[in-house]
Amino acid sequence: MQQESIGVVGLGLLGRGIAACFLFHGFRVVVLTKDGAPGYAAARQYIAKAAAEYLAHAGVDAEAAKDWPERFVEAAGWEAFAGCGFIVESVTEELATKQEVFDALESVVDPAVPIASNTSALPISLLQQSRRHPGRFLGMHWAEPAHATRFLELIRGAATADAALERAAELARRLDKDPCLVQRDVPGFIVNRLGYAMYREAVHMLETGVADVETIDRAFRNACGLWASLCGPFRWIDITGGPGLYARAMRGVLPTLNNSPELPPTLENPPESFYRYAPGEVERWHEQLHEQAWSLFRKRP
Ligand SMILES: NC(=O)c1ccc[n+]([C@@H]2O[C@H](COP(=O)([O-])OP(=O)(O)OC[C@H]3O[C@@H](n4cnc5c(N)ncnc54)[C@H](O)[C@@H]3O)[C@@H](O)[C@H]2O)c1
Repeated sequence: MQQESIGVVGLGLLGRGIAACFLFHGFRVVVLTKDGAPGYAAARQYIAKAAAEYLAHAGVDAEAAKDWPERFVEAAGWEAFAGCGFIVESVTEELATKQEVFDALESVVDPAVPIASNTSALPISLLQQSRRHPGRFLGMHWAEPAHATRFLELIRGAATADAALERAAELARRLDKDPCLVQRDVPGFIVNRLGYAMYREAVHMLETGVADVETIDRAFRNACGLWASLCGPFRWIDITGGPGLYARAMRGVLPTLNNSPELPPTLENPPESFYRYAPGEVERWHEQLHEQAWSLFRKRP
């Protein structure tokens, strides 16, 4: 049984899932949240539910999910991270908050220990500025449910050392992830860039009367939903006509796509949601998302 210590700072929606993932793979996990006792209690409750799911779905690999509470260590202060061999920061998406956390970590953690940020959109190169040992900082972008998804982007900032990236990739494989290395630190990394381009066009079609919300969603789900968990856009192009065919079709359509750098009006003053939800309905969607993640988990190569 591995007993290496991993630090996780922030126990919100993502942090608690990240902690769960390390715990279920046998690591000792030192956690810190500024929410105090209620934050730790909420995280324990989430991880207990995730452990039950993990035991039900992950089969023989799931043994370590049973004794996770013994390896879940609530930090009394920053000194608790001194013995950790790798740290993941997953606090609120604000530069000042993240810098505050890095200041505290740098004062206690050995310079050789990599520190990974789970930021969704802050440039890693920016986070590295004014750090004492910038080479150890990298991006590690997770997706929910973090204990069940294979997705993990590892982002190289301008100053990130190869050793930090290699350590992150090695850890990722031990967590059953399929790590994707992002070699250039672009906003949104890979997956959010693809997503934002698609969300912008979906909203544009809605605003220009092409179809309503429900119809656009249904078309997307029945077409892109069919192949998106099987292959990526390049393979899809290859097996459905090839780049030449797509080039001919795209030439006519590209000039009509929305490429405005401004937010579309609908998102400038965003509605609370696009659909109306009955009580419990959002939770049901989340449950289905977990079921979907587990069905893909079982099919992993
Ligand atoms: N929500 C998503 O789907 C998603 C996906 C990928 C990455 N991310 C990124 O993950 C990070 C966390 O997002 P979230 O959705 O879990 O946020 P959240 O608001 O749910 O949780 C934030 C956590 O940070 C803690 N925190 C804030 N300041 C702190 C401090 N100074 N010291 C210690 N803990 C502190 C809070 O107590 C809380 O536990 C963000 O950078 C976000 O962009 C989010």
